[in-house]
Amino acid sequence: MASAGNLLYLFDSFVALRPVYSKKFRSATQLMPIDRKPEFFKGAQLKVAIIGCGYVGLPLALRFAEAGHKVTGFDTDPNKVNMLNAGRSYIEHIPQTKIQQFVNSRHFGATTDFARLKEADAILICVPTPLDERREPDLSYVEQTAISIQPHLQKGQLVVLESTTYPGTTEELVLPILEKSGLRCPIVTGPENDNVACDFWLAFSPEREDPGNKQFGLAQIPKVVGGLNPPSGRAAVSLYAQVVARVVPVSSTRAAEMAKLLENIFRCVNIAMVNELKMLSLRMGIDIWEVIDAAATKPFGFMPFYPGPGLGGHCIPVDPYYLSWKAREYDFSTRFIELAGEVNTAMPYHVVDAIAAALNNHKKSLNGAKVLILGVAYKKDVDDLRESPTLKIMQLLQQRGAQLDYNDPYFPKLHKMRHYNYENMKSVPLNPQTLGSYDAVIVATDHSSYDYSAIVDAAKLVVDTRNATRRVMRHRDKIVLC
Ligand SMILES: NC(=O)c1ccc[n+]([C@@H]2O[C@H](COP(=O)([O-])OP(=O)(O)OC[C@H]3O[C@@H](n4cnc5c(N)ncnc54)[C@H](O)[C@@H]3O)[C@@H](O)[C@H]2O)c1
Repeated sequence: MASAGNLLYLFDSFVALRPVYSKKFRSATQLMPIDRKPEFFKGAQLKVAIIGCGYVGLPLALRFAEAGHKVTGFDTDPNKVNMLNAGRSYIEHIPQTKIQQFVNSRHFGATTDFARLKEADAILICVPTPLDERREPDLSYVEQTAISIQPHLQKGQLVVLESTTYPGTTEELVLPILEKSGLRCPIVTGPENDNVACDFWLAFSPEREDPGNKQFGLAQIPKVVGGLNPPSGRAAVSLYAQVVARVVPVSSTRAAEMAKLLENIFRCVNIAMVNELKMLSLRMGIDIWEVIDAAATKPFGFMPFYPGPGLGGHCIPVDPYYLSWKAREYDFSTRFIELAGEVNTAMPYHVVDAIAAALNNHKKSLNGAKVLILGVAYKKDVDDLRESPTLKIMQLLQQRGAQLDYNDPYFPKLHKMRHYNYENMKSVPLNPQTLGSYDAVIVATDHSSYDYSAIVDAAKLVVDTRNATRRVMRHRDKIVLC
């Protein structure tokens, strides 16, 4: 049986064939019944617009396409748009074949033309939310996106912000810009507002994408959803229920925004704690990784976190500061976040001191030593450099006079970045001769493709920041854990 959405599509195609009516009927406003209900998003084949086709937006777009919807990716980067329309991937773990499949079946295409937003039933915003130079929230991408949507906003559209941000962003930043269209979406909660009138629906639903995680893909990860009012919440729940196994409604956009920050602050604080305990354990001659494995056998009340060379990625080093910043408005100091930040920021310095001490034991000074870094990505098996602690470690090593090379299978060469200039560096090949020519080899990122036994066999000294060499049996005297 044809669903309501399919009928709309048939209707759309039909009027497109009739030039006399096409202009009149083509805008989404006219295509949408005036009495469209939030539950419209439950069953129909929908037109879904994803703004921002990056690590979060692209997998989400492909998931909606997989579920049979018509998806358009909007991005300001014309190179990405061209690549997507040619069926090509620019993210390592997203297979080209998947993009090709949906481009060929016309379930997915990309554009830089934001006027086409008016054709969409649902608009999902997945643009960056970084920190600025003063480490304060930079909401310019979200703001710019809301400004791009506003002239094209239609009655009956659902808009969802997915970018990680502080509680209040959807209400205080996105809503006022969208309402400049003249369309309204009231901020109200409670059952008495179950059927409050809305021209469009607005919600927040944080993304929990974990790039490269083979155990939990988007479809298996429950999605938290908070609406600006009950109908907005129901519309967003109906939409996401089509693509994820479980949707978790909360009472407001603020609760949904805060839930995402709680998740990331939880990780940030626990990683800081275990990093601090690692430094103490090193001093006490205790193997912290053995300790964590032992503690993790407790079947309740404990969750293992692992130490490392510092925080990396787009989320954990950044997101907690969104809350610290917002907390100031309430005369509140988020001390756990500040303390965790302090400990985690110190880790690359700790690693460089440990490298200097290990070289010293080999009667070498760091100044003038040949050092090879393994892994520049912020975590194993991803082609993502954002906030990678390795970049800081490399900078500190250079400042202290080390002669530096690196290897990373995901980065054949490095480019100029904010704060760092590694423009002319190229990944050196890994073979016994090259490995043996360095005074120290540093395991900064524990990519699975590395043969750690062969690395330890060939190297003079291995400084391991991730315990990647835990299964290496030979030449353990060459390994320094730090
Ligand atoms: N990467 C992750 O693992 C992850 C996980 C969970 C949540 N998040 C959050 O998701 C959001 C997006 O992160 P990401 O990693 O996908 O970023 P990204 O940089 O990979 O992708 C963002 C995309 O948005 C595009 N863009 C920028 N401004 C735009 C605009 N005004 N209009 C249209 N497109 C625009 C960029 O060209 C880019 O393609 C952030 O808030 C981030 O904190 C990221």
